[in-house]
Order: sequence, then structure tokens, then C-alpha cells
Amino acid sequence: MTKIGKLYAIGVGPGASDLMTLRAARLLRETDVVAVPEKTLGKQDSFAWAIATGAVAAKEIQGETLFLHFPMSRDVSITVPAWQRAAAAIIERLQQGLDVAFITEGDPSVFSTWAYLQEELAESLPQVEVEIVPGVSSITAVPAATGVPLADGEERFCVVPATYGIEMLPRLMEEFDTIILIKAGRMVEPLIELLEPMDMLHCARYVSYASGDNQEVYEDLRQVPQEHRYFAMVQLSIRGRKGRLRHGKAA
Ligand SMILES: C[S@@+](CC[C@H](N)C(=O)[O-])C[C@H]1O[C@@H](n2cnc3c(N)ncnc32)[C@H](O)[C@@H]1O
Repeated sequence: MTKIGKLYAIGVGPGASDLMTLRAARLLRETDVVAVPEKTLGKQDSFAWAIATGAVAAKEIQGETLFLHFPMSRDVSITVPAWQRAAAAIIERLQQGLDVAFITEGDPSVFSTWAYLQEELAESLPQVEVEIVPGVSSITAVPAATGVPLADGEERFCVVPATYGIEMLPRLMEEFDTIILIKAGRMVEPLIELLEPMDMLHCARYVSYASGDNQEVYEDLRQVPQEHRYFAMVQLSIRGRKGRLRHGKAA
């Protein structure tokens, strides 16, 4: 009986190819199959692939390149069958004894297509050996771009998808020193409407494509251009850093 292959979930980092890890680069060169999520069926439009091939030239990738369609939709009648097809294509190769490296933008454990695949695979092929290779996440690439630390000392931070429930922000602001709003591209207007009357707008910084050549940082949400940017986050820093560290209390 053929031994089942090993499955890798590889984070390729937030955008700049030279932020990809050495381990990720080695596995891309060595693994039998590199599985790549694409947004549009057959179009091979993949940010993860663009990042990966900026670090390891496509010609150095000896194995099969397997593009898998992950539609950008919230409609489960569209997404679930696509995830199942993606899982089936990976399982087919694993059962042939081939090792498969699934690449994903940022880190695989952070709001990633990997989570869907992991669930599908756990049901269909529970015996498969899985190794998760962490990558630099946007959660740390964004503060690197703003220059404002996430947290220090006794401070706390949280990460919230902006698309689900910004109405909970006033409560979170009581509890946390920094709030990272992921998937914030379409939520700039509602955030301005919420933060301005609270006099909290000056705490918000907007970053798109952190670490990439096209990185943009806005210190005033009202200056953010209208067009939708998918890779955008808002860092809400309520922290009284100097006060807490120097005087033992919030500034
Ligand atoms: C599907 S999640 C993927 C997150 C990824 N796994 C990570 O670890 O960063 C996509 C969201 O992450 C955020 N994001 C990812 N990369 C980013 C970057 N380079 N700059 C700003 N935001 C980014 C955006 O909010 C985007 O809508």
C-alpha cells in the first residue's frame, strides 16, 4: 500500500517576498506538489503565488503547481463545494504518496483559506501528517508600517474582523489598548461614522498592502481614497504608552 504523503500549510508572509521564511522557500523548492489558492477559476490570480515566486523563481519549483479555486464569496452554496473540490484534489495527490505544500498569504492560522481545507481534510483523511509553517502575518506587518507597537507591558490587544460587528468597538475600547481591524477595506466610512462622534478618529491608522511596494499608510481615515482595497487594515491605538510605562498609569 502506498504511504500517504505529508501535507504542509505554508505562510508566505504579508507581501514583501523577502519576508518569506527560509523554511517556506526550501519546502517550495523540494515538495512534490505546490497547491496555490486562486481567486478566479482558471485565472491563476493569487497573491500568495506572487509573493512566493518573488522569493523562489517559478523555474526552481520542481513539483507540480496545483491552482485551487477559493471563490471570494460569503455564499456557502458557492464556497463549500469549492473547498470540497480543493480538498479532493489535495487528497488525490496525498494518496499517491506525494507531499503537498499549500501556500497561503500571511500566516496559515490567521483568517486563512487553510482553515477551510484543514477542516475538510480532518474529516476525509484524518491520518494525514500535517506541518504548519508560520509566516509573518499582517497583524505584525501593519504595526511595522505604522511604527506604533501593538502592546507592551500590561497592555492588551485584540484582532477583530471589521466586516463583522464594528458596533462592538466601544466595548472593546474599554478592554483593549489596541484593536486590529482586519478586512477593513470596505469599512472605512462606517468606522469614521462610529469613531468621529467618540473623538477617537485620531487613534485610527489605515494601512493597505503592508510591506509591499504599494504599501500605503493613512493617519487620517478621512483621507483614505474611496476605491475598495482588499488588503487593508485599521490599527486603533488607544494606548497610553508613556503614561503606563513611566508613571504606572494610563496617560
Ligand atoms: C483572508 S485575510 C488573510 C490574513 C493572513 N492570513 C495574515 O496572516 O495576514 C485577508 C485580510 O488580511 C489583511 N491583510 C493581509 N495582508 C495584508 C497586508 N499586507 N496589509 C494590510 N492588510 C493585510 C486585510 O485586512 C485582508 O482583508
